Amino acid sequence: MESNRGIKTLVASFMLCAVFTTGCYYDKVAPEGPPEGSISYSEDIQPFFDASCIACHNGGGIPLNLEASVSYAELIFGDYIDEAIPANSLLYTKIEVGGSMEQYATDAERAVTLKWIEQGAKNN
Ligand code: HEC
Repeated sequence: MESNRGIKTLVASFMLCAVFTTGCYYDKVAPEGPPEGSISYSEDIQPFFDASCIACHNGGGIPLNLEASVSYAELIFGDYIDEAIPANSLLYTKIEVGGSMEQYATDAERAVTLKWIEQGAKNN
């Protein structure tokens, strides 16, 4: 009985340890954690559109062409960006959890997109 409890404690602490270790490990290697520095439209945002959006948003019947040659102009002149209240931007509310495009974006991609708008939605 006593030794059994000892083993359980050992197993429990080992598991706790593993959770913490994995947590730290993940923080360090995750390539797309919450963005720290300045977001680049060409390097951070457009590649996300290319991979996840342009299969549909390509100038066909669906509004908002997100192909590289036109995406920035479409977003700015089509009123998809609200610089005063970034989280209200249609580009963001659509991909946000609960938005109709939610399934096409990861949490990291949502975060990068919002941060890009917060930083002034620059064509950088
Ligand atoms: C499988 C096809 C498909 C994919 C992939 C897709 N969309 Fe859409 N998207 C649609 C359709 C259809 C609509 C119109 C219906 C709606 O608003 O839900 C739409 C609407 C939108 C709108 C609103 C357009 C407007 O003028 O009302 C935005 C913004 C948008 N999508 C962003 C995105 C982003 C960003 C991605 C990539 C992360 C994405 N979509 C991926 C099909 C898609």
